[in-house]
Amino acid sequence: MRADGPIGLFDSGVGGLTVVSRVVQALPHESILYFGDTAHLPYGMRPLDEVRAYALRIGRYLVAQGAKAVVVACNTSTAAALEAMQADLPVPVLGTVDCGVRAALKVARNGCVGVLATQATVLAGAYPRAFERAGARMEVVEQPCPEFVTLVEAGVTRGSEALSAAERYCTAVRARAIDTVVLGCTHYPYLAGVIRQVIGPDVSLVDPAEELARSLAHRLDECGLRRPDGDPPTHRYLVSGDPSAFAESARRLLCRDIAVEKVDIFDAED
Ligand code: DGL
Repeated sequence: MRADGPIGLFDSGVGGLTVVSRVVQALPHESILYFGDTAHLPYGMRPLDEVRAYALRIGRYLVAQGAKAVVVACNTSTAAALEAMQADLPVPVLGTVDCGVRAALKVARNGCVGVLATQATVLAGAYPRAFERAGARMEVVEQPCPEFVTLVEAGVTRGSEALSAAERYCTAVRARAIDTVVLGCTHYPYLAGVIRQVIGPDVSLVDPAEELARSLAHRLDECGLRRPDGDPPTHRYLVSGDPSAFAESARRLLCRDIAVEKVDIFDAED
């Protein structure tokens, strides 16, 4: 493991770029190696063991490319594969779910939190278990929001389509005395504007990525893995599917151009 190696991050698609932004904000000197598994998108509609197999393959690839730490920038993969990846990979591996729970517990006031997530994350019971692990007696109201991923992948974060999806998915949350909502899928922070419009100004919206970036900084310090100052960091974006489609969505979401490379990692082991 070398301190000048990149941080490896992955997601099914562009959602993990919300995590990349937080990591770059917190750790501006670190290089980034991002993998979007767009050939298998959406993860949220797949069985957990399938997602786990993809996640393990991607994790091994990122480490083989020199990643000194792997960030699972995807709640579905965290729910399906975090423990397996931590056992399998020789580098620190961090996920989203416990970070989301820690962040929620800092702001939740009334014992009832909402979690918007993919169907697979909800079926895995990842958030209720993580609240329990944290010793918090919380009622967790979960809502799968599959259309959110489709919208964000198309670069649509505003307008009537996004707003009506938010209205549909936030009904359960609005009907309850919930003061905190976790954005339990890394695509959803791009829709924070329409979600906020629907749930109102008094509910805290929690993006686990902020806490995750803090944990990552802490972990790098603990392991003596912070990148030394020197050459500017590199940011590389890889995908398993169509690179131009990813670049176009990223351009709409980030308002800048990024170079995207296609790599075939699912055919052969490194
Ligand atoms: N962004 C991912 C998550 O955090 C996966 C979304 C999907 O592919 O369904 O769960």
